[in-house]
Amino acid sequence: MKLLVPSAYGLEAVVKRQLLLLGYPNTRAINGRVAVEDCTWTDVARLNMFLRSGERVLVQLAEFPAETFDQLFDGVASVDWAEIVDANGRVVVVTKSVQSTLTAHHAIQSIGKKAIVTVLQKKYGILPEDGATYKVELDITQNVVSVNLDTTGVGLHKRGYRSLNYSAPLKETTASALIDLSVWNPDKMFADIFCGSGTLPIEAAMKALKIAPGLNRTFDFQNWQCVGEKPMQIAKQEAMDVRVERQLNIVGGDINPKAIDIANFHAKRAGVDKYVKFNLRDAREFVTKQKYGVNISNPPYGERLGDLEEVKQTAKDMGELYRSLDKWNFYFLSPLQDFERHFGRRADKKRFVFNADIKCSFYTFNGPKPPKA
Ligand SMILES: C[S@@+](CC[C@H](N)C(=O)[O-])C[C@H]1O[C@@H](n2cnc3c(N)ncnc32)[C@H](O)[C@@H]1O
Repeated sequence: MKLLVPSAYGLEAVVKRQLLLLGYPNTRAINGRVAVEDCTWTDVARLNMFLRSGERVLVQLAEFPAETFDQLFDGVASVDWAEIVDANGRVVVVTKSVQSTLTAHHAIQSIGKKAIVTVLQKKYGILPEDGATYKVELDITQNVVSVNLDTTGVGLHKRGYRSLNYSAPLKETTASALIDLSVWNPDKMFADIFCGSGTLPIEAAMKALKIAPGLNRTFDFQNWQCVGEKPMQIAKQEAMDVRVERQLNIVGGDINPKAIDIANFHAKRAGVDKYVKFNLRDAREFVTKQKYGVNISNPPYGERLGDLEEVKQTAKDMGELYRSLDKWNFYFLSPLQDFERHFGRRADKKRFVFNADIKCSFYTFNGPKPPKA
């Protein structure tokens, strides 16, 4: 089976690297998706369980050219749907069309669904559609249709620990990718001095303790008879086996007491409350005895919290903090285009990353490398 892992813009390389570390060296990034060939249902379970930054795991069932609805129908109907979908399965079709002749989403969706239902009815007769959900994506890009089965269900960013609402939270998958893009490792101190609901410190702790991001949730494929229980049992056992115990120095800070309460609550739910300390504190007053460390934050955005002048002032204040902690590495995710000017220094690296559809830059301000032990 060929699996496709959609990834947020700018983060495909991070997902590729996570796949490599999970034992999948032969991957290819195309159109915001990373493709993994020759997979089994156990691989589906493993990727859902362990991938920290992919958005979902899709099985590609067919790929064919189509410029007419007849071609679309025939291509979708060429899949042996009864091998996958149970007699009472509920099929939901979603569509994407990019630079293609077929553009009418409603029509693509109903032709696609009709093709699937026609195949299923031949095998099962009447379809009650009151069982497990099978979400099928018809992705038409440059007149080539990819028929993809979504094994994940609710997106992979939903780890299960973030149950309370907070304004402008970072997606868990993005937070984890930013950590991967940094020089942080669990021997170093980690800080997020604008921690909000605690996503970055919690994700850092989960990564360091090798807590699988999918351990406390379920996935759509677990309800499918064609998969059975074994693949998930294997992935769960592996998730239990790889966990490690270690000391960590991870802190979060925020000026909003509600944020600190929520962050503590989420850390407990994620099972990392023993390892992460959240403090009610103004970021400008951050002090530490640790000579070396890494801070990753997404400070308030003009669009949603605070106003633009405050955002610029924050960038300026962060520049001063960076200069006072001259051996720390600072990373900021911000939509502010002239962040560096206000910060007072050119970033050592700058990458585009989308945060909730807002185009941001991930600015890296390096400190010197710590001496080799
Ligand atoms: C964009 S949110 C961060 C969201 C966070 N990454 C999350 O996943 O929930 C920015 C946070 O900065 C906090 N904040 C604003 N000004 C601050 C300051 N001077 N010091 C510390 N925190 C501040 C806000 O209360 C807000 O929680």
